[in-house]
Amino acid sequence: MPTVAVVYFSGQGHTKAMAEAVVEGAAAVSATAAHSLRITGDQIVDGRWQDEEMMAQITAADAIVFGTPTYMGGVAGQYKCFIDAASEVWFQFGWKNKIAGGFTHSSSPSGDKQSTLLYLAVNAYQHSMIWVGPAEMPSQYVGKDDAVNRLGAFMGVMGQSDLDMSGGDIEVHAGDLKTARLYGQRIAEATQRWLKGA
Ligand SMILES: Cc1cc2nc3c(=O)[nH]c(=O)nc-3n(C[C@H](O)[C@H](O)[C@H](O)COP(=O)(O)O)c2cc1C
Repeated sequence: MPTVAVVYFSGQGHTKAMAEAVVEGAAAVSATAAHSLRITGDQIVDGRWQDEEMMAQITAADAIVFGTPTYMGGVAGQYKCFIDAASEVWFQFGWKNKIAGGFTHSSSPSGDKQSTLLYLAVNAYQHSMIWVGPAEMPSQYVGKDDAVNRLGAFMGVMGQSDLDMSGGDIEVHAGDLKTARLYGQRIAEATQRWLKGA
């Protein structure tokens, strides 16, 4: 059965919510298995990300969707440690020809998060993966009020929530979550087409 692995880091939970939406969308496609794998700071020892079992699960998937908050206009340091550890997979070309995608979340409306998606795509190209972007017209162009792709991103999915220092429950925009679900669906469908060779 085609498998989609959603691999993400999340400090406060916004990126986690988006990851879960991507999984939900992918799992809604028939005959597809989807699961999320969370990168955590305690997997990093002496600056090196290590979790052999998780890396094996990721490498066994047919599609990998990468997700990280935007930190200082790029991927979070914890996530970069994971990406660098995957250079060992690169030596074997272990992710070659897998479907790839990415998403990010930031607090500022821009927050320079395009750089994050760009980097995730570059990393996927380094692995000779097949990058699939989302395909949703921004809601404001099509007169819909569901806020799908309200941030107008086509390289990957973007989410944005205002900075909240209260420490209360986190909330991710419903439009961003819907965009993430649709993206999960698109990734799963692309994976099935790719595997069929159609
Ligand atoms: C170290 C650090 C750097 C950050 N840099 C940015 C940034 O460059 N642009 C931005 O809009 N938000 C920035 N933020 C805010 C995070 O993007 C935001 O809190 C994050 O997307 C929340 O995701 P999470 O709940 O999954 O951790 C930064 C936050 C931290 C902790």
